[in-house]
Amino acid sequence: MKIAIIGIGNVGGALAGRWKSAGHQILIGSRNPENINSDYTTLTIQDAARQADIILVATPGKAMPQVATSIGSIPGKIIIDATNSIGVSPEEKKPFEILKNVTGGDVVKAFNTTGFENMANPVYDTEYGQIAIDLFMAGGSPAAKEAVKQLAGHAGFGEVWDMGNDEKVPHVEAMAFAWINLAIMQKQGRNIALKMIRRK
Ligand SMILES: NC(=O)c1ccc[n+]([C@@H]2O[C@H](COP(=O)([O-])OP(=O)(O)OC[C@H]3O[C@@H](n4cnc5c(N)ncnc54)[C@H](OP(=O)(O)O)[C@@H]3O)[C@@H](O)[C@H]2O)c1
Repeated sequence: MKIAIIGIGNVGGALAGRWKSAGHQILIGSRNPENINSDYTTLTIQDAARQADIILVATPGKAMPQVATSIGSIPGKIIIDATNSIGVSPEEKKPFEILKNVTGGDVVKAFNTTGFENMANPVYDTEYGQIAIDLFMAGGSPAAKEAVKQLAGHAGFGEVWDMGNDEKVPHVEAMAFAWINLAIMQKQGRNIALKMIRRK
């Protein structure tokens, strides 16, 4: 697949690497394409979004009004929203809602619940052997969720847990804030990750 990565920072860079290794074509969408020094094809945000089969948005959540406007109207295209609402006040619209309303795309929230190091390497050596960590997603588009399942597998994640439709997106963001709290504020470090287990 052709995957547009909007925002080639920590998260965009980690997932671009995994997906390129899995055989996908990566297009970088940047507000300053001429300043990006990368092996990937680098385009404007609008061109990358239009040319891609799937789009990953990995910019600051606070920048979403600008980013979504740059993407433009792309009804029905699959967009993965990996942002978190850091610095977005309670009165402001959430990035997921802005992305969906402005683009008309099939937006799914995913790849936001764990640190970028875990995205670059989702397999842990543990006392129980090697374990691939899990991913969590929410959104109203079955096609977008199917794409996340495939791309999570291609990136090396374990199971993908479907938290529900658009109204459950806050639960998926809350998982990100719980991870950030444990890893950073509670000083557990960034080498921690979630794996759900099921009783037989
Ligand atoms: N870091 C993590 O471990 C982690 C984990 C899960 C989720 N997240 C979420 O993922 C998102 C990205 O985090 P990150 O750590 O990858 O950030 P980052 O390293 O700072 O990268 C952000 C990227 O967004 C671009 N960007 C910033 N403002 C923009 C704008 N107004 N328009 C277009 N592009 C813009 C930047 O490009 P320029 O070169 O143009 O500035 C940069 O490529 C955030 O929402 C964060 O909350 C982060």
